[in-house]
Amino acid sequence: MKSIIFVTHNQNKLKEVKAILDGKYHIISSTDINCTEEIPETSNTIEGNALQKARYVKENYGYDCFADDTGLEVDALGGEPGVDSAIYAGVGCSYEDNVRKLLDTLGDNPNRTARFRTVIALILEGREYLFEGIVNGRIIREGKGTGGFGYDPVFVPDGYTETFSEMALELKNSISHRGRAVSKLAEFLNQYKSTESNNN
Ligand code: IMP
Repeated sequence: MKSIIFVTHNQNKLKEVKAILDGKYHIISSTDINCTEEIPETSNTIEGNALQKARYVKENYGYDCFADDTGLEVDALGGEPGVDSAIYAGVGCSYEDNVRKLLDTLGDNPNRTARFRTVIALILEGREYLFEGIVNGRIIREGKGTGGFGYDPVFVPDGYTETFSEMALELKNSISHRGRAVSKLAEFLNQYKSTESNNN
């Protein structure tokens, strides 16, 4: 079975992706190949950061791999925090700091529409592929719920009344940006015909 590296140290993400992809491919995390150094993420786009991480592992470790990057794009803020979602309130800040900054910056603005956008960059047999997953929704005025992470307490996806933090994880994963991007990756990999020998 062909091995593909998922460039992440996040065990929750790994579990989520393995549940969809393991079977035809052996999914290994970058932690498992001892790639423990901080990989540069210096692009000013979500696509660029995903590609940068995947290229780093391909170039330095030689494995076919994929990497993801996510941002929250708020319309009233011209798409911010976007690629800076993790460090919106400053380097080393907490999820709570980011949420507080977002709510303070939006203030009473009635335009609350936003989206989470994930891009997965895959490098396979010398080619690069991008898969995008989007979930549209809105930012509420005060956090609700205890589950999830990041901006989940203030994000209500379209078609629902509860925040991502209030939802069961299975429901969130089935409609989320990352879930959608991973499904596209899975569909692609499941139909992929290898051009290399020894692999199916
Ligand atoms: P990453 O690219 O997956 O590390 O995501 C960058 C940042 O986006 C994280 O630090 C979170 O602040 C935010 N983020 C990513 N995914 C989610 C999510 O599913 N819910 C809430 N926030 C998220």
